[in-house]
Amino acid sequence: MKSRQNAKFHVGVSRRQFLQRSASTVGAAVVGGLPALAAAKECKLTQQEILGPMYNYGASMFQVKLAADDEPGQKLMLRGSVLSEDCCTPLPGTLIEIWQADDAGHYDKKRPGDFLEESPPFHFRGMLRADANGRYEIQTVVPGAYPIPPGVPGLEQYGGLTRARHIHIKVLPFLNVALTTQLYFNGDEHLRTDPWGAHKPSLALDLKQSSEFMVGEFDFVLGTGLKS
Ligand SMILES: [Fe+2]
Repeated sequence: MKSRQNAKFHVGVSRRQFLQRSASTVGAAVVGGLPALAAAKECKLTQQEILGPMYNYGASMFQVKLAADDEPGQKLMLRGSVLSEDCCTPLPGTLIEIWQADDAGHYDKKRPGDFLEESPPFHFRGMLRADANGRYEIQTVVPGAYPIPPGVPGLEQYGGLTRARHIHIKVLPFLNVALTTQLYFNGDEHLRTDPWGAHKPSLALDLKQSSEFMVGEFDFVLGTGLKS
C-alpha cells in the first residue's frame, strides 16, 4: 500500500513538533520497577481492536530489534509488562506479535486482507516472547500514517481518510484471553479523526525522549480464562 502522505507530517504539525509534543506529555511511567498501570492505580483490561487487513500469518521470531539499525525514521522503543486482569500478576513467556507500517506508511503486503499472502521477506513484522517476569521490549521506528484505500469492503465510507500512526499487536498468553489491539501516539494530528483510535484514548502512548529513542510504556492486561 503506497502513500506519499508520510514523507513528512504535513497537516500543520512537523515530525519534530509531534515528537516534542509527545515528549512533553509523559503519562504513567514505570515507577520503581512497578508495571505502569499498577503505579497509576488503574486497572482495566486492555481494549480490543480489529485485526485489520494488513495482518499476515507466519511472522518469524525476533529479539528486541524489529527494525534494522539503518532503518529510516524516528527510533521508537516500546516496553512494558504483560499482566493478568489484576494488573499485577505477570504472564511470563507470553507470545507477542507485532506488525506495522514503515516510516513512509508502507506495509510489506501487496494483497490486503489475504492473511496467507506469500510475501517477500517480512518487514516490520515479527513475534517475540515476554521474559520470565512478563516484561517485553521492542525497538522499532515510529510508523508512518497512511490513507485507507478507497473501496475496501465495509470501509467504503473511510476511503481516503488518513489513519493515525499505529502499531498492530496480538498478545497470546497461555491461559489468559488473547488480545488483538493497536497502539497510537498522543500528539498525532490524525488521531482525533481515526475511526478506531479516536475512541480509545487508553491505547494512545505518551512518548519521552531517551537518547536516540522515543520511549513508550504500555502494559497489556488480559482477562483470565480460569474462573474459580
Ligand atoms: Fe494498520
